[in-house]
Amino acid sequence: MSFDKEYKRRRTFAIIAHPDAGKTTLTEKLLLFGGAIQTAGAVKSNKIKKSTTSDFMEIEKQRGISVATSVMTFEYKNLKINILDTPGHKDFAEDTYRTLTAVDSVILVIDCVKGVEEQTEKLMEVCRMRDTPVIIFVNKMDREGKGPFDLLDELEQKLNIKTRPITWPVNGGRDFKGVYHLLEKKMNFFAINKQKVEEDIFEFGIDSPILEEKIGTKDAAQLREDVELIEGVYEEFNKEAYLKGELAPVFFGSAVSNFGVMELLNTFCQVSPLPISRKTDKREVQPTEKNFSGFVFKIHANIDPRHRDRIAFLRICSGTFNRGEFYSHIRSGKKMRFSNPYMFMADSKNVVDDAYPGDVIGLYDTGNFKIGDTLSEGEQFQFIGIPSFSPELFREVINTNPLKTKQLEKGVQQLSEEGVAQLFTMQPGNRKIIGTVGELQFEVIQHRLLNEYGASCSFESKPYSKACWLTADDPEKLGEFIRLKSNFIAYDKDNRPVFLAETDWILRMNKENNPDIEFHTTSEF
Ligand code: G4P
Repeated sequence: MSFDKEYKRRRTFAIIAHPDAGKTTLTEKLLLFGGAIQTAGAVKSNKIKKSTTSDFMEIEKQRGISVATSVMTFEYKNLKINILDTPGHKDFAEDTYRTLTAVDSVILVIDCVKGVEEQTEKLMEVCRMRDTPVIIFVNKMDREGKGPFDLLDELEQKLNIKTRPITWPVNGGRDFKGVYHLLEKKMNFFAINKQKVEEDIFEFGIDSPILEEKIGTKDAAQLREDVELIEGVYEEFNKEAYLKGELAPVFFGSAVSNFGVMELLNTFCQVSPLPISRKTDKREVQPTEKNFSGFVFKIHANIDPRHRDRIAFLRICSGTFNRGEFYSHIRSGKKMRFSNPYMFMADSKNVVDDAYPGDVIGLYDTGNFKIGDTLSEGEQFQFIGIPSFSPELFREVINTNPLKTKQLEKGVQQLSEEGVAQLFTMQPGNRKIIGTVGELQFEVIQHRLLNEYGASCSFESKPYSKACWLTADDPEKLGEFIRLKSNFIAYDKDNRPVFLAETDWILRMNKENNPDIEFHTTSEF
């Protein structure tokens, strides 16, 4: 197949959701449609059920699963669809944010009982920063939930995006009767585990008496009224607005019953974006360019501590990647070749000879890669748009075995390069401060330092709650601020100054009192 055909077939997206909304279930149903898996239950839930207990077997198991499910590829309607998995646990949200830099669109799953939850808002903020196109799936319609109009209002208000329903539910909970496709004007009647929508589907004008026959007078009247209202209030579905990230089409269904999922998938196939162009520090790179380029958005350490090798996940941005060819690792200037790059199919992985824009490949790494690294055919540019976000918890690493100081330093460095947590250095004394978004990350670090590096440490809490990267037009002013506030200044992995604020109020005061200094909440500005 020609390059053009290959690249136009790619659709790369992530499913995002607050834990328990149904992300794993929906992923599985999509894979079933694509024939990538045969049975339900084949996709392991990538989540750590117990929140902060030291259940390390569980964590290790999850790390194993999350390698296997990092990317899931399936074919559907002649498209090659790549689903990038995101961790289910909120303590690993930073990993999710980074994965979102490697996709072209997202499907957001909402639980109709709970509506927009905390994690949904945070994830959507990251999508909005990049204007990522979003499709919304309102899940668990078989449960008694909020009304669909209320849900749409809530989505618009809390997520700061316009919505446009594409399917519409007839009731919810025990009385759920199905969904009406507002564009195709077809009614899909609810049944558990439908494999084909066509099995029981009616195409008719909304005024047809068949509707009464099928769902009763009261529900038919209600549906007609709802549809009239929707058509009066909402504009026609506008694909351009969706592609710009301004408008989210909304679907209703029940993932566990495999209901309403096919409507979602069909629309996804029709409207979701092809691999998009990506910004670098020099210029924008188009996917259609002949020369290969890509960036690393995730690094996974081997779970077997005897093998220190890692897998770097590379998103291909332009050209064709060929196995065994030499490519430039821009940060180090080294030439690298990969004899066993692999791609993932649901529950297996295969060595690939070539890969195209939109694809994600796994590369064996012996410690050369950092998150955000660029590979190219030689052109000197770095992909941008893979920022670090401010952590929420900060702790100082205390070495509890002085004989293993070197191992500790190396371990902390490598784990932060892998993206397990962020590392900041404070003076005097080169103190190491680790920043995370959740408690569990500290446990993982402590456990892995001991198991993989033989180093032991404890953590001392720091009172900070936010990190802001600092810049100023006048370097002297920045230098002065750093001197004055030295107790609150740390340096990130690239040795850039960061202000550690204890409270939002302190941060605000510092901003007000220092108008020449810019405070950035992400590492890219
Ligand atoms: P997550 O990945 O977003 O965290 O959610 P996951 O798919 O694991 O789903 C969370 C729970 O919600 C699961 O139940 C799942 O079966 C249930 N669920 C998913 N979709 C629907 C739906 O459409 N309707 C209803 N009623 N439930 C749904 P669980 O009890 O936590 O796990 P399990 O033992 O059933 O697998």
